[in-house]
Formats: sequence, structure tokens, C-alpha cells
Amino acid sequence: MNPIELRIRDAADYIRRKTDLVPELGLVLGSGLGDFCVGLDHAVSIPFSEVPGFPVPTVEGHSGMVVIGRYNGVPVMALRGRVHYYEGGTQQEITIPIRVMKLLGVKTVLLTNASGGINTSFREGTLMLISDHINFSGANPLIGPNLDVFGPRFPDMGDVYTRELRKKIRAQAAEMGIDLREGIYAMTSGPSYETPAEVRMFRALGADAVGMSTVPEAIVARHTGMQVVGVSCITNMAAGLLDRPLDHAEVVETANQVKQEFLRLVEAVIAICAEN
Ligand code: HPA
Repeated sequence: MNPIELRIRDAADYIRRKTDLVPELGLVLGSGLGDFCVGLDHAVSIPFSEVPGFPVPTVEGHSGMVVIGRYNGVPVMALRGRVHYYEGGTQQEITIPIRVMKLLGVKTVLLTNASGGINTSFREGTLMLISDHINFSGANPLIGPNLDVFGPRFPDMGDVYTRELRKKIRAQAAEMGIDLREGIYAMTSGPSYETPAEVRMFRALGADAVGMSTVPEAIVARHTGMQVVGVSCITNMAAGLLDRPLDHAEVVETANQVKQEFLRLVEAVIAICAEN
């Protein structure tokens, strides 16, 4: 068997032995959102480092836990933290947890992240529903032998972030008084932030936000036929837009400040995904 497929199967078998719950919704919790897991009932938590085959994160603020439990009755598998491409693994490896979600029963994945605002009408703390992406990471998680059991060699990417779900999420957010914008997310490999020239290029290409994650996960999730929702927290304006240097502490601080609003939105998304 393909070594990546073996790792996916080992991880899924291990997690299955820890819980009887069949998760319907998969959640990837980016910077500052890990607290969401506190709200899961009867949760089972497993460190990434304990799951055979799983990649292990190295970045501060991404502790790396799989948490499986119910949220308002909906069976959820949450990844508290993620492994980023810039940590050195291949995109095939860092997306192993997404395929594990599929094997465990997940139908819809909600991907969250922190990103830099490119759209000049955004502010620090703006929440953006991802309508589409630009893969500027220089790689693709589907490079290499195709894992036919998951999906086709040349998967369609015409509706990565399910249009129908986005429509419902926008309506729900409006009803809850959550200010939700929508836009295109561009991914770079990182770990250096963009230069001002790169940010101008991304704006010219039609991007509204830029970050270092999410796109490989979205591609793998769509490849295997899961529905995808993406929500980005604009933690800072991208390079060159404000007259000061970017630093990771600012990203973490803004993510913490808007956490409550972000969590309310996540809750709304869960309610909508559960209906589908
Ligand atoms: N650029 C890239 N990734 C990011 C940023 C940014 O400005 N902010 C948070 N993640």
C-alpha cells in the first residue's frame, strides 16, 4: 500500500479504538480557536504525537490535539492546531488528518485560520468567509501517486467552498448580528510574511486575504468529496498597508480579541452543517 495511505489508515484505526462516536463534522481550529474544544461534550482528546501516522506540529499556539465529542448534539472531530507546510513536511503529509476525517465518517469540514487583510476595506478582527482560493504555495497536496480510494486524479475545483452552505452561513450570520465579509484567500508557503510588492500583486490577482494554511486541506477535502467551509480571521493588515512591521504576537493578540465572535460564528456554521 502507498505509505501515505498506510499512515492514514493507521491513524484512523487508532482513533476508532478510542471512541464509538462517528463524527459528521470536521473542524480545523487555527490560531486562538483551540478553546472551542472546551464546549464539546464527553470529549475524547488525543495528542497528535500519540496518533500513529499523524504529522506533529511544532508552532507555538498549535498544541496539536484531536478532540472528538458532541457539540449541541452534533458529532464533531476537531483538530486543535494544525501542521503547516512551512514546517517542512510535504503537503501530502500535512493533510493526512483531513483524509483520516473522511475515513472516520466526516461529511463537511470547517477550516479556520488567521490571515492578513489585503482588501483595504477590511480591518483587524474582520471575519471573512472564504469564497475561493488562490494556491500560491508552490505545491499541491495531490502531487504524487493518486490515492484512488479517496478521489480522482484530476478533481474539479469549481466549487471548493460549497456555495449552498455559504449562502446559509451568510444568512445565519446576519441574523445573529455577526459582521461577516466574504472573499478570496491566497496561500503562500510562508514562513516569512509577504513583502509589500507581493501584497500588491495578490490584490491585483483578486485576493482579499493572505495566509499560510487551509488551501492544501481544502483541496484534499474536495478531492475526497467532502463539503468545505472556510473562515478566516483577519488578524492584521497585510505587509505595506500600515506603517509598521508585522509580528506573530499581533496575530495571536487579534485572534484572542475576536475569539468570542469567531466562536459564535463557528457555532452557527455547525448548526447549518448539521442540517445538511
Ligand atoms: N500573511 C500571511 N499569513 C498570515 C498573516 C499575513 O499577514 N497574518 C496571519 N497569517
